[in-house]
Amino acid sequence: MNILVLNGPNLNLLGMREPEIYGSATYADLQALLQKEAHKLDIAIEFFQSNHEGALIDAIQAAYGRIHGIIFNPAAYTHTSIALLDALKAVGIPTVEVHISDPDQREPFRQVSYLRPACIATIKGKGLPGYVEALHLLHERYHQK
Ligand code: DQA
Repeated sequence: MNILVLNGPNLNLLGMREPEIYGSATYADLQALLQKEAHKLDIAIEFFQSNHEGALIDAIQAAYGRIHGIIFNPAAYTHTSIALLDALKAVGIPTVEVHISDPDQREPFRQVSYLRPACIATIKGKGLPGYVEALHLLHERYHQK
């Protein structure tokens, strides 16, 4: 099974960025955590982070026919991007939306997710373990088939 972990803008700054909201673990810590868990589950995992909407769209398109599940924290693009929604719908790859914080408990502008309709689940407010939960969910779903 091949999984793509996609992270949107400013998530490269994890650890330094608003640690009271996002915690002190870094993006490298996140990768190490998921890599370890993927190894246990015999999953081939790859990572892509970008601050650019188009680059994230390119990564979703390139996943078609190759990737069995996407773990996606679209960061601020969650609340703005019809183009990312369309990309997910186009490829039809099972995708779990993940947020470190719980955007539904924050400012009103964060309480809208354009991408949620194209995702099989949303995991929010659980910190980095939320990504691990998403990995397990995609793994279980893949092996149910
Ligand atoms: C986030 C929540 C978004 O509202 C915010 O723009 C982010 C991170 C989260 O992981 O909690 O950049 O997706």
